[in-house]
Amino acid sequence: MKHCRSWICLVNGLISTLLISLPIHIQAATHSQHSPDGQIVFSVNDDTGLPNYSVSYKGQAVIKKSALGLEFKPLDGFVRNLKIVQEKKSSNDSTWEQPWGEQRLMRDHHNELLVTFSGTENTTKIMQLRVRVFNDGLGFRYEVPPQKSLEKKHSSKTHNKKIEIVDEKTEFVIPDADKTTAWWIPSRNWNRYEFLYNTTAVKDLDRAHTPFTVRLASGIHLSIHEAALTDYAAMTLDQQRDGTLKADLTPWSDGIKVKTQLPFHTPWRTIQIASNASGLINSSLILNLNEPNKLGDVSWVKPGKYIGIWWGMHVNTQTWGSGEKHGATTENTKKLMDFAAQYGFDGVLVEGWNEGWDGDWYQNGDIFSFTKAYPDFNLPEITAYGLEKNVHLIGHHETAGAVINYKNQMADAFDLYKKHGVTQVKTGYVADGGKIKRIDENGIIRNEWHDGQFNIGEYLRSVTEAAKRQISINTHEPIKDTGLRRTYPNWIAREGARGQEYNAWGSPPNPPEHTVILPFTRMLSGPMDYTPGIFNLAPYGLEAENRVRSTLAKELALYVVIYSPIQMAADLIENYYEKDGKTIKPAFQFIRDVPTDWEKTQALAGEIGDYIVIARQQRNSDDWFLGAITDENARDIKINLNFLDTDRQYEAQIYRDGSKAEWQKNPYDIVIEKKSVSAKDQLEFRLATSGGVAIRFKVIK
Ligand code: NOJ
Ligand code: CA
Repeated sequence: MKHCRSWICLVNGLISTLLISLPIHIQAATHSQHSPDGQIVFSVNDDTGLPNYSVSYKGQAVIKKSALGLEFKPLDGFVRNLKIVQEKKSSNDSTWEQPWGEQRLMRDHHNELLVTFSGTENTTKIMQLRVRVFNDGLGFRYEVPPQKSLEKKHSSKTHNKKIEIVDEKTEFVIPDADKTTAWWIPSRNWNRYEFLYNTTAVKDLDRAHTPFTVRLASGIHLSIHEAALTDYAAMTLDQQRDGTLKADLTPWSDGIKVKTQLPFHTPWRTIQIASNASGLINSSLILNLNEPNKLGDVSWVKPGKYIGIWWGMHVNTQTWGSGEKHGATTENTKKLMDFAAQYGFDGVLVEGWNEGWDGDWYQNGDIFSFTKAYPDFNLPEITAYGLEKNVHLIGHHETAGAVINYKNQMADAFDLYKKHGVTQVKTGYVADGGKIKRIDENGIIRNEWHDGQFNIGEYLRSVTEAAKRQISINTHEPIKDTGLRRTYPNWIAREGARGQEYNAWGSPPNPPEHTVILPFTRMLSGPMDYTPGIFNLAPYGLEAENRVRSTLAKELALYVVIYSPIQMAADLIENYYEKDGKTIKPAFQFIRDVPTDWEKTQALAGEIGDYIVIARQQRNSDDWFLGAITDENARDIKINLNFLDTDRQYEAQIYRDGSKAEWQKNPYDIVIEKKSVSAKDQLEFRLATSGGVAIRFKVIK
């Protein structure tokens, strides 16, 4: 064997040794691997030369025989005439620490199976499938090592390692498509990820984004998603025959799905498996399948809370553009910085500070400047004013989908913010799906999808460029999260679903069930900048279409339920005061107290679209916080406090719906009370229609 320096060379060496020593025409073989607790079994097979897999949980088939494979242009790639020629098994049980997160210590306990496929006719053609099976689900990915046969046939140049993937054949065949319920949003559609969730039988879906969550007739819950999506196209799911969901990669404008080169591997295709709905939330599968932190010391990435010049633009009291109602002025910002300093917020987001917003800003992508402020916004003065009070300006870059204009200014834009002590930037990619502007090699404008390979690279560019300047990024209109915060911990949050802003626009607003679907779907992928904390729930009156469809207590509970290391108090600051304009409202105390960084998280109970109860322990503290919310139905809940430390007594500071609360006519009826409790106790609450309860458990010293 020749001298090897890389793992790829080693693998190739091993494979060629094996190919010489093994007869190729072995019987169709099943190779399997199980989870450490033995409950999940993944089996892979090369029956009739077609690679396929299946999954069982507690002896029940949860993914039926499903195809595997990759199709290249102009070759067939790895679709048919394939044979498993080698398997390798290994195990891992280790613990790693998140610099920030919903859980500090993460256990990565899995069994691995690596199977090697070769062509039955062309035996030098090699593809591997790496599978990791955990107690909470599994991931598998394709790995294609360097190989001469693919290089030569692909092009007339002998050393062209380029590969164009035209289709990924991966299927997820769900049993009983008529009896299995799915929660899903459509993919390849104009509004990116910002759709209301559909609740249907699996057989009634067309094409869906991931995380894609289902409940089987047996009550087992699955969520199909992907981990570590970089330099590849997003996987969406296209239903073919009933129950057969096929990977549908988002294409480039020329129809190719992925442009890559040898060697390469795909993102992990993931299946979370749990016996109940909350089990999906108590899972660390996606993060465990991502690469460790690549940024080194990230102590500069700071979780925290913020307010902003933001909601005013959405409820039309302010504008992004210049003029009388311009929100981003030096005076307004300083006022917010005073408020932030007084009530313990770390940052003030300011949108509309830079030139380019005038007129119909959706169309202004190419004229946005990311370094020139409007004349009434004095960046150096504002940032210096804030830093004296320990309050940071949070920057804002809206691209309107013109990512090349952004790319051209990016270095200067981040340099400017760095110079003035800005440590966090919210980015925006407002453009209809399929309307991201790329300029090709010939200078021609091409329209790309937000979740296609091209723009996935642009998102990552902003994150890595920002990291060089110790700036964290909160992406709006993002690519869905696939756990990359582990690798790039400065990718601190993102949007990627309908957030609070829809309640201002009313197109239509988020229904009461929306926030009890998110934790089991969108939130399985990672933190969301939902922006809770609206206190004036109906800025246009209770009867208006556009208003927040929840009680005040539910708005508070969202700080615990919808995880993000950065949480906004999203309302206009005047709405946090009583009518006298001086006294802060008592309910605001919860927003001041709730942390955004956690030692532990436990989803205690819940059903998708109905209700959820989540408890989290504050990091570097013995205090716990709890949030419970319900859909349009009022509900009685009983919470067992056995998650608390058994040796301690706590003061439960409770913010619950009052006896007359209901979201439509009486959303502000809230009771704030204190109780002494311990781990042996149970608490019972009546949640109002679209109501909730938020609790701080403070250790009594
Ligand atoms: C959409 C974002 O979600 C919202 O938060 C922002 O205010 C606007 N784009 C403008 O950038
Ligand atoms: Ca948005």
